[in-house]
Amino acid sequence: MPTCSGLPSRLPTFLAAPPSAVGNRVPDGIRPHNYSLLRPACNPHLPIVEFSRDDLSRRDFMNVASLSAGIAATVPLAEAQTVPSASEIVDCAITVNGREYALTLDPRITLLDLLRERLHLTGAKKGCDHGQCGACTVLSGGTRINSCLSLAVTHNGDFITTIEGLARNGDLHPLQAAFIEHDGFQCGYCTPGQICSAAGLLNEVRGRAKPLDDAEIRERMSGNICRCGAYPNIVAAIKAVRGRVAG
Ligand code: FES
Ligand code: FES
Repeated sequence: MPTCSGLPSRLPTFLAAPPSAVGNRVPDGIRPHNYSLLRPACNPHLPIVEFSRDDLSRRDFMNVASLSAGIAATVPLAEAQTVPSASEIVDCAITVNGREYALTLDPRITLLDLLRERLHLTGAKKGCDHGQCGACTVLSGGTRINSCLSLAVTHNGDFITTIEGLARNGDLHPLQAAFIEHDGFQCGYCTPGQICSAAGLLNEVRGRAKPLDDAEIRERMSGNICRCGAYPNIVAAIKAVRGRVAG
């Protein structure tokens, strides 16, 4: 739960707002003076009515806490964040899929959010947002990265390639064609990340004499999760392209 500086340390991690502001039900057993819809403590837009955890039974407290968590999830991101001052804004030039963008960036924005929310390149997916699924994989200078873990401002001057930038003159990238040929996807959610990751993989082993076998492909692609379990076909697609490129 978020907390605000300047508030008493014993204050619960949520604050109550007048029920009229939200028109929600009252959790069982909570007295009228301290019930209501709850907002995260950092929301500046609601009148603050403090209530103490001591006023509540454990059951009531759990009711309130779970309600608060639900509401917190619905608060728009913009409301929960502070706006950076002009001195904190950073000018950046980033080339994405061959097009140079002059950007003024909040230094906290990730590359993934920049791509999806500002440049409207929604191919890279937000799966876990924690560097664990690989759905957000893009290429930076030919090297694969998890864009959810990378701050956009650190890519000033970089050349980023997303799934939207892999095709050339209307022709699919060989990996895109191979994923179709080998049925390397089902729902497709992980596929942009899988293909960008595979492109990075092929860059890593380019010029190497040692063959790329299934086990090494699996190991090198282990950062890309496929909940549909299309792994055998993904491996087959990558192996086919590697065979053509190396051959
Ligand atoms: S969204 Fe980036 S690794 Fe999962
Ligand atoms: S194809 Fe569905 S998650 Fe990979």
